[in-house]
Amino acid sequence: MRIVMVGSGYVGLVSGACFADFGHEVVCVDKAADKIEALRNGVIPIFEPGLDQLVESNVKAGRLTFSTELAGPVSEADVVFIAVGTPSRRGDGHADLGYVHAAAAEIAASIKGFTVVVTKSTVPVGTGDEVERIIRETNPDADVAVVSNPEFLREGAAIEDFKRPDRIVVGLSDERARPVMTEVYRPLYLNQSPLLFTSRRTSELIKYAANAFLAMKITFINEVADLCEKVGADVQDVSRGIGLDGRIGAKFLHAGPGYGGSCFPKDTLALAKTAQDHDSPVRLIETTIAINDSRKRAMGRKVIAAVGGDVRGKKVAVFGLTFKPNTDDMRDSPAIAIVQALKDAGAIVSGYDPEGMNNARQMMEIDFATSPYEAARDAHVAVLVTEWNAFRALDLDRLKSLMAAPVLVDLRNVYRAHEVEAHGFAYHSIGKG
Ligand SMILES: NC(=O)c1ccc[n+]([C@@H]2O[C@H](COP(=O)([O-])OP(=O)(O)OC[C@H]3O[C@@H](n4cnc5c(N)ncnc54)[C@H](O)[C@@H]3O)[C@@H](O)[C@H]2O)c1
Repeated sequence: MRIVMVGSGYVGLVSGACFADFGHEVVCVDKAADKIEALRNGVIPIFEPGLDQLVESNVKAGRLTFSTELAGPVSEADVVFIAVGTPSRRGDGHADLGYVHAAAAEIAASIKGFTVVVTKSTVPVGTGDEVERIIRETNPDADVAVVSNPEFLREGAAIEDFKRPDRIVVGLSDERARPVMTEVYRPLYLNQSPLLFTSRRTSELIKYAANAFLAMKITFINEVADLCEKVGADVQDVSRGIGLDGRIGAKFLHAGPGYGGSCFPKDTLALAKTAQDHDSPVRLIETTIAINDSRKRAMGRKVIAAVGGDVRGKKVAVFGLTFKPNTDDMRDSPAIAIVQALKDAGAIVSGYDPEGMNNARQMMEIDFATSPYEAARDAHVAVLVTEWNAFRALDLDRLKSLMAAPVLVDLRNVYRAHEVEAHGFAYHSIGKG
């Protein structure tokens, strides 16, 4: 199959490289000329484990190429994926579909012969109808089937998720697209990954419902963690105790500083807005959003309490800036709100992240250190915000010797209290009464 991926970011590049690895001929297109230039020179513009080797081997095999122009590749394609961003629209939180609509119009102008146009971006219900309308209006002769195929990969484990998905969801209204999409995913289909065909609107909603449910699950355990602190219980044991129940499941039950990232915050908001527009509000999700927003700043207050209630003029070391480990993605990272809360209270913040420093520099003004130890020098408190492996086995004696005061706030429950306290630290974790 000849596949074009419009948008070569976290989703487009991973999907494109994986499709090439399945044996398809893939062109990854992006408007950002510097991204395409880098990719052509063998430089991967994002950090995603294993992506460099996957791209390199498929480029070498001649199955994966990169372009800033979509006209030529689209005219020869069997399938064109739209994998552009759908950020929150400023002001009201609806998904901003500007990039999707623009991509649809550009694709329409270049289509030749029957082509399946697939929206992989996360888009509100009804977007497929609009994409189809734009294509037909721009090019009335275009022979297209417009399909929804949301992506469920997680950054940091994106290739594994793409190649071993729990399910593949395909929403279509034109039956001609069914054999094409089956062929696109043939290796996974043969591997028994469930391929779920639905209506286009259903498929669009599945993606939002999935993300909203996961965000709600995280928020649920975060509230239970707060209760644990009040009543003298241990949230990790509660998570295990409920997670072993097959009806509940153990995943997404890790208490922490609140969810962040490029998906959950914007997708929960977009779902809530869609639901309001249809006079069918999703109150659980509206509440989830409100709880999560306030939680991030509450984490700032937790740090301030750990240093005795006043952080003015004191140095705070922040370990981990990205929204989760194994990515360089800083979008909506809890670290942003936590750092802001600390700076607002007069703290001097120094931070370190294994892969997120370049992106973090665009988003916050702090002292950027070259290691956790450098960040901790003369600090009155260290805060573990993102559970990178690099922070799981810190040399606590060294850390203590560098700090002005040995205080560790562990927002990911990476350490055990008795271990850290044995090194002379005051230790604060999440959900342990
Ligand atoms: N990042 C994730 O973990 C993830 C997971 C599942 C779904 N999604 C969804 O996938 C979509 C893409 O997310 P992302 O994180 O890959 O975004 P991203 O910002 O990393 O990448 C989007 C890319 O599209 C490019 N682009 C925009 N308009 C274009 C056009 N007309 N032609 C060519 N290129 C264009 C941009 O330059 C950018 O490189 C979003 O809807 C997101 O919600 C993301």
